[in-house]
Amino acid sequence: MSSLIVVGCQWGDEGKGKIVDYLASQADYVTRFQGGSNAGHTINVGNETYKLRLLPSGVLHRKKLVIANGVVVDPAVLLQEISDLTGHGYAPDLALSDRAHVTLSYHQMLDAAEEKFKGALRSGTTLRGIGPTYTDKVARYGIRVCDLLDAETLKQKLTQNSILKQKILTSVYESDSRVDERQLLDTCLRFGKELQPYVADTSIVLSNALDNGKRVLFEGAQGLMLDVDHGLYPFGTSSNTVAGAVCTGAGIGPGRINGVLGVVKAYTSRVGAGPVPTELTDEIGSRLQEKGKEFGTVTGRRRRCGWVDAVALRLAVRVNSLSTMALTKVDTLGGFSPIKICVEYELDGRRITEQPAALREYSNCKPVYEEMEGWPDLPPSDWASIAKKGYSSLPTQARSYIERLEEITKVPAKIISVGEARNATIHRSEVWPG
Ligand code: IMP
Repeated sequence: MSSLIVVGCQWGDEGKGKIVDYLASQADYVTRFQGGSNAGHTINVGNETYKLRLLPSGVLHRKKLVIANGVVVDPAVLLQEISDLTGHGYAPDLALSDRAHVTLSYHQMLDAAEEKFKGALRSGTTLRGIGPTYTDKVARYGIRVCDLLDAETLKQKLTQNSILKQKILTSVYESDSRVDERQLLDTCLRFGKELQPYVADTSIVLSNALDNGKRVLFEGAQGLMLDVDHGLYPFGTSSNTVAGAVCTGAGIGPGRINGVLGVVKAYTSRVGAGPVPTELTDEIGSRLQEKGKEFGTVTGRRRRCGWVDAVALRLAVRVNSLSTMALTKVDTLGGFSPIKICVEYELDGRRITEQPAALREYSNCKPVYEEMEGWPDLPPSDWASIAKKGYSSLPTQARSYIERLEEITKVPAKIISVGEARNATIHRSEVWPG
């Protein structure tokens, strides 16, 4: 048996889709275990670009796909994705957890109303209803995939929720949104019918797969800094994005996890609100944004860019037990010199090496940088031939940068990505455990 978890080590958008797609070719199962349709995983195959929000990125390798219980599933998005991919010849072989919670239209209405109400404390959500769905789960108002298959339970829950959500929307948030119970019931029954062939107890599916010696890849969504416990609260998402979430989110015990790979972008990007210590609001930040095509996959918003933050990376190493890193977008940093790495923060005249919990303190942290010489800006064809030749053909300065990040994090960067294409990837050594 072999299992490998892939997690983001920054603010999401580290390039996990490409790395998971790359590793999925060597896996038997690819599993999503948290998040929902707030995720946007971009994969380029030939001239086609696929943007996945719920289906695991292994779909393009025709692997067994699992959407486990920890994911919040918007059935409309999932059914659309299944239909689109089937149309492109990639009909998904999917197991959808009967215990996963579903995102419905009132969750999206509440997401918008809550963001408006929060004002300066809003996190700039994707407005996909993620927070309200997880809120309902924890408050025990949630509707699960298994409920979509049971008309009586569904009606009982929808009646209760429609009354409650309408009251909250109208009286608390002064919103004009209308919750239509009848329409919700019809829609949910249709969702149930269409999703039924995929519904399974995915904890058993995964446990059997591991018992039978299959390779299982767990695909994280978002990134460490958006984790509801370990990230920048309240500016993150509503799920745990760290490796430990696989246990609760997929129903497998910690003893069944063999390795954790952290995806790190060679610089920082962030979509949404809240402080980012290494953000560059100058011309370098704009160039990074343009060169890296940093626009949100789900919302199309411009991503804020800056230098890599090793304080956050150290946290990622600690809370995830990273065994390996995949470093992405090394090609994008070409042409920038000097390149900076934030190694510590300065807070109220003191040097600190770990992130403070309090938002006010975090907002006041100033990055302390180390500078390194940059490498040339090369055309994609040069990066592709470097990838073919291997690690030693990377520009010396790029290798020094990678090795400095390895030194700081004490984790080997076994995969280096130097372009969007599948083959623009340097595989330095085996990442699959065992
Ligand atoms: P939510 O997950 O839609 O509730 O959004 C909460 C915060 O997480 C916002 O700042 C979003 O911009 C951010 N976020 C959510 N999903 C992603 C993602 O996949 N990539 C990057 N940022 C994300």
